[in-house]
Amino acid sequence: MINWSKDYKQTSELLDRFGSPLYVYDQAIIARQVEKYRAAFADFPVLVRNFFAVKALPNPAILRLLVDAGMGLDCSSIPELELARMSGVCGENVIFTSNNTSDREFAAAVEAGAIINFDDINLVKRYLSSDFPLPEVAFCRYNPGDLELGENSDIIGRPSEAKYGMPHDQIAQAYKLLRDAGVKRFGLHTMLLSNETNHEFHEKIANSLFGLAAELSRELGIEFEAINLGGGFGVAYRPEQADFDIGKFASDLAEIYRSAGLMEPCAPKIYTESGRWVTADSGFLLTRVINRKDTHRSYVGVDASMANLMRPGMYSAYHHIEVLSNRSDFNPEALETIDVVGSLCENNDKFAVQRQLPVTKPGDIMVIDTVGAHGHAMGFQYNGRLRSAEVLLSPNGPRLIRRAETADDHFATLKNLQGKETNVSTN
Ligand SMILES: Cc1ncc(COP(=O)(O)O)c(C=O)c1O
Repeated sequence: MINWSKDYKQTSELLDRFGSPLYVYDQAIIARQVEKYRAAFADFPVLVRNFFAVKALPNPAILRLLVDAGMGLDCSSIPELELARMSGVCGENVIFTSNNTSDREFAAAVEAGAIINFDDINLVKRYLSSDFPLPEVAFCRYNPGDLELGENSDIIGRPSEAKYGMPHDQIAQAYKLLRDAGVKRFGLHTMLLSNETNHEFHEKIANSLFGLAAELSRELGIEFEAINLGGGFGVAYRPEQADFDIGKFASDLAEIYRSAGLMEPCAPKIYTESGRWVTADSGFLLTRVINRKDTHRSYVGVDASMANLMRPGMYSAYHHIEVLSNRSDFNPEALETIDVVGSLCENNDKFAVQRQLPVTKPGDIMVIDTVGAHGHAMGFQYNGRLRSAEVLLSPNGPRLIRRAETADDHFATLKNLQGKETNVSTN
């Protein structure tokens, strides 16, 4: 694997060719993660399959790579179902995990033949009393409420405060309604963690889910053909942080699975829907320094902003930054304490706060690491800022997989308004 992101010349050429700021994904790193997942679960007693969470990196060129490697896709909206279709995936290779679901969304999921994962008992009731066909297979999303899962709940919230899923009695009722309506095939789902590198919390969830599956099977006489543990496998955003140990997780999970009494008569498959762990490490946001400002603090302004990467502003998330320069007076050892800022009229438009970084000048490059999941996808257009292009570093060289937005894209929704009804909706 070439460490291109430490090479000023190569990085600068990418910016000259595709524009700055720029998202770059390294295909070799995606392939490495896919292989780690496959190897970890190779000896698991049943099939384990990841349904990549499309929301993490909704680019068909990358979804295609993951699908070709055997992953399914996890979608939560109509455009994500369309992205799955564009990536050549349909039917039970797609799980539709939405919440607060509209009838239009159910209809789109039915049309795609996707597995429907119900988030709420009222949605089950509405679905069953509408004209939708009986689901071939129905999943329900569990929320245990009081499961203690450590501190890392900022993104998804504690189960008891999270809007997702059904508590024990409601989920039992939901399966009963589905069973009585004639559904024959079932799955059980939960998603309680986000960016959690401690495998023990993921195991705790699996344990609770396996117990629930065994209990519901006994009580309702239904069989679960798959148990979906959700996503949330963490990544090391800081260089000193430990990675999620997927090998240890897989071997512990196999033990938990064996002792949960799920093997007879029909052993359920295990699904996960990891997004971040699969692609975060592969993504780099390249940006050029455009100004420095020394007032009450020292600020280095770059040409990317929170509109390109929302995580630091939204979650105070740490992203490691590397500085590259071809100046003869550049000294990577000479550090100063600065805030790295964008140009939005928002004071939380900062990629780093009071961070020690090498002294830069305009024209130098900053490489913001670990942005390959929930990065470009969470971009927005506030202040008239536009989202950057995306480039895939493939074995055949850099490949543009999304062009940068233009002013015309930004103004498109203001044009042709008079008397025009649009039938394209993205909710
Ligand atoms: C239902 C669901 N599944 C999977 C994911 C993917 O999470 P991660 O990318 O942290 O693995 C999310 C993230 O928001 C989610 O909401």
